Amino acid sequence: MTSWFAPGRINLIGEHTDYNDGFVLPFALAVGCTATVSQAAQDWSVRSAQEPEPVVVRRSGLAGADAVPEWTRYVLGALWLLTDRGIDVPPLEVTVDSDVPTGAGLSSSAALVCSVVRAVGDHLGLDLDDDAVFALTRDVENDAVGAPTGGMDQLVSLRGEAGHVLLCDMRSHDTRPVPLDLAGHGLSVLVADTRAPHKHSDGEYGARRRGCEEAARILGVPALRDVSGEGLADALGRLDDDELRRYVRHVVTEDERVLAVARLLDEGRLPDIGQALTASHRSMRDDFRITVPEVDTAVDALLSAGALGARMTGGGFGGCVIGLLPEGDVEAAGDAVRRAFADAGFGEPSLFTASAEAGARRV
Ligand code: GLA
Repeated sequence: MTSWFAPGRINLIGEHTDYNDGFVLPFALAVGCTATVSQAAQDWSVRSAQEPEPVVVRRSGLAGADAVPEWTRYVLGALWLLTDRGIDVPPLEVTVDSDVPTGAGLSSSAALVCSVVRAVGDHLGLDLDDDAVFALTRDVENDAVGAPTGGMDQLVSLRGEAGHVLLCDMRSHDTRPVPLDLAGHGLSVLVADTRAPHKHSDGEYGARRRGCEEAARILGVPALRDVSGEGLADALGRLDDDELRRYVRHVVTEDERVLAVARLLDEGRLPDIGQALTASHRSMRDDFRITVPEVDTAVDALLSAGALGARMTGGGFGGCVIGLLPEGDVEAAGDAVRRAFADAGFGEPSLFTASAEAGARRV
């Protein structure tokens, strides 16, 4: 029997830059998923502590995948893809147990996939290096689940470090921990889960991704990461479509903000990153257009309550907002968000503080 834990994540900054080969700065959370793998008599069976029914399927590759409940694709996907790669995956029982809220934009799916891939790889004694593990987790989500996500969530779930954000170059997949010394500055990251529903496999995420790829094609670059800040005005001048111009402006300025925030953190200037966080939110709201009234309301309430910076985190269209606040202001800021939601007639948000924790580990 082999068990691995992998965490959910919050992205400090760098949204929709990952599939543009750009930069992101997420951190791993304390909440996550534990996957336990053991030998079975025949077939593959999948159980979740959060689901009423176990699911049993015949062993097969991706092409032979039966119609199965969506959550099991995150588990079976690993077994299907390994089979397609010529590995004889024996009968197994995989049990998962997660405390990452689903649908909140905290990467419950990355926690699930990463814990399963690590546990299966370890249990079967597969000689997968870090890059192969990461590639497999991303392929599960892209190919077996069909969500066209960019890999940030899996990378930080695998490689996060306590007390640090992870600066990820999403072209090379090089990662570097950067200190996030909240306690040393008397600061907290307050998370407001707006509970506005969101879903990546829905059309909007894929539409943004296709728009970015189309813009890169028109500009003649491999990815929007290759448009520099200095080259932005020229690039915008070469695009006729206003929507594509807005997408390019978001991605190019967001990459710059990620690198600027990483530099400030390296210099020990955590309180100075607030402006970039808020600018990122405005860029998502006005240029990339992936926010919804609930997240804009939460950001405004946090800023009015004294946040140094605030932004939506994750793929968008709902999910969570983060605010960087002096520790002493956290409670009042939470109340301000609740009040703003009540005034706007939104449902009750859920509020909690987040710290940067370690990535996937054997348990
Ligand atoms: C989701 C995806 C990530 C990334 C973010 C947006 O979390 O899974 O790959 O694209 O959205 O930054």
